[in-house]
Amino acid sequence: MSDPLSPAPLTDNQMRQAADRFGTPLYAYSAAELDAALSRVRAAFGDARIWYAMKANPNLTLLRRLHAAGVGFECVSLGELARAVKVGAGGREILVNGPAKSDEEYRLGGELGATFIVDRPGEVELLPHASRVLVRINPGLNVSTHDHLATGAAHSKFGVRPDQLPEVLVALQAGGHTLRGLHLHIGSAIRDAGDFGAAFERVAELHTLTGPLEVLDVGGGWGLDADLHGIAARATEAAASFGAALWVEPGRYLVARAGVLLTRVMGNKQTGRDFTLLDAGMTELLRPMLYGAAHPVRALWKGEPITSDLAGPACESGDLLGQDVTLPAGAVRGDLLALLEAGAYGATMSSNYLTRPRPAEVLWDGQQWVTMRGRETAEDIWAAEV
Ligand code: LLP
Repeated sequence: MSDPLSPAPLTDNQMRQAADRFGTPLYAYSAAELDAALSRVRAAFGDARIWYAMKANPNLTLLRRLHAAGVGFECVSLGELARAVKVGAGGREILVNGPAKSDEEYRLGGELGATFIVDRPGEVELLPHASRVLVRINPGLNVSTHDHLATGAAHSKFGVRPDQLPEVLVALQAGGHTLRGLHLHIGSAIRDAGDFGAAFERVAELHTLTGPLEVLDVGGGWGLDADLHGIAARATEAAASFGAALWVEPGRYLVARAGVLLTRVMGNKQTGRDFTLLDAGMTELLRPMLYGAAHPVRALWKGEPITSDLAGPACESGDLLGQDVTLPAGAVRGDLLALLEAGAYGATMSSNYLTRPRPAEVLWDGQQWVTMRGRETAEDIWAAEV
């Protein structure tokens, strides 16, 4: 039996087939792994309500699939709200979040009757009439992740300080808004269930200020190998302090393992280091450059193990998709390599820098390849230029 958490969601043959048919660089996804991730979340969190943080991967095909499975959406831009509406989500299935919401986001969220996540005291007066809200708390805790991915630290820009909560509660009541509950999200790619536990406990103490609440939303942020059951136990306990239902907002956990970035070897070279040159780089997968993320790699050629850096085609020294990666020796131009765990924050953070068209995205649905996004062209890139 295969390991249910095996990082390669597609077989070597499927990956070869997709690369031959759709070209590279290519994002390829497995529907079975998507469904499996959702099942793992449901197994750990029981009947907690799930809101997909669509920033992780907002492709409409994925959104439709999750919506059909009863998952709601956490949205942080007008475009994300439009995507939720596009796949048929109603206001009851949408959370409007973000530290600096635009007038248009307030207006559309209000029209839809969505729930707003209030991120600062000054926001209350901007809310549409009689809004339903969660108040995001900044628990002021350092967590074990890259500093760019920590959102619950005292120095981060997110959330309301616990000492500001009383004034927010007064303002909400004066404005005729409904406080549904509290919200927190302490960061992303966090592995230690203890970090979550500490943050949840700090928020649970606030029940003396709020009294009973309908909802406690503990956000997402679960690393791919985090102990979901441990996190769920702590979250459930915190929700119980408010007599509240538990909500969660996973992004990465739902989609990361389902996706791989397929890229072909363009050549090799040795300077002070050994480089394997690829047709994908920082423009297709920014995470290694931005966060020092190390994506597992599957090389589809054979050879004795060597150590090499994976370099992209961009004219930037930092354009590396991996450093000191173990690869089979003897790669030749055209050989195929997969960067794994790339389904979250991969395609969506790709850019047109260097007028590089963003890659196509395809899904193996169990029987066939479905195109989720066609490959961009240079014309697409300059279309809005005058
Ligand atoms: N809820 C809120 C309020 C969030 O800000 C986020 C992510 C999530 C949920 C989902 O977090 P997740 O379960 O995916 O960790 N670009 C970075 C990740 C940034 C995450 C931002 N907020 C990366 O590539 O790792």
